[in-house]
Amino acid sequence: MEKIKSILVTLVSLATIVGIAYGGIRTSPDSLEKWLTTHYAAKEKVTQLHFYVRDVISTPTPTNVVVASANTTSSSPTSFGQVAVMDDPVTVGPEPGSKIIGQAGGIYALASLEETSLHMTFTIVFADGEYNGSTLSFSGHNAYLTPLRQISIVGGTGVFAFARGVTSVTTLSSNSSGDAVFQYDSIVLHY
Ligand SMILES: *[C@@H]1O[C@H](CO)[C@@H](O)[C@H](O)[C@H]1NC(C)=O
Ligand SMILES: *[C@@H]1O[C@H](CO)[C@@H](O)[C@H](O)[C@H]1NC(C)=O
Ligand SMILES: *[C@@H]1O[C@H](CO)[C@@H](O)[C@H](O)[C@H]1NC(C)=O
Repeated sequence: MEKIKSILVTLVSLATIVGIAYGGIRTSPDSLEKWLTTHYAAKEKVTQLHFYVRDVISTPTPTNVVVASANTTSSSPTSFGQVAVMDDPVTVGPEPGSKIIGQAGGIYALASLEETSLHMTFTIVFADGEYNGSTLSFSGHNAYLTPLRQISIVGGTGVFAFARGVTSVTTLSSNSSGDAVFQYDSIVLHY
């Protein structure tokens, strides 16, 4: 164990020296170096997360806005080419007024000629409890009209540094105003 630690310290020192050699720019800020020294022998753990994401477009301040589309989007049966930006509240329960624990911000595009499906890339920034300040990034295919789909979790920060995982997504409700509530059940591997 001591040996691993000394190799690690050597590597960290080397990285610092290399950083200094290249114009004095440190290779990692102190908080990441601290993470490395406290986690070098850590075992990966599994965390299950259960939360809801609310898309509100019926109000004067929608949480989801279309920002671009192609000339052909309006005639496309799958809205191919439409691009939107979202900043949806993440809540503990599905009901309106449920406690907000973070925000899901990102971009998606209607990216299929064959079906109504999205390519999404977004990050949940947690703002409450043990995950406050930590983030989880999601990226992938979302076959929006399918009852149950999966999106990959491709990384994270803070508690979720080096995270990877997968989430299932279900549309719990959606109404004619376009408002919708999604249920997320995630499995995250992290340290
Ligand atoms: C899109 O439509 C506009 C207005 O009809 C036209 O001026 C423009 O050339 C079109 N762009 C493409 C890429 O077809
Ligand atoms: C979350 O963290 C921020 C920044 O440290 C802090 O200002 C805020 O009060 C925290 N919120 C909760 C609910 O703990
Ligand atoms: C859709 O649901 C929202 C609440 O999320 C509500 O404010 C809105 O009035 C509903 N629209 C319709 C047409 O039911």
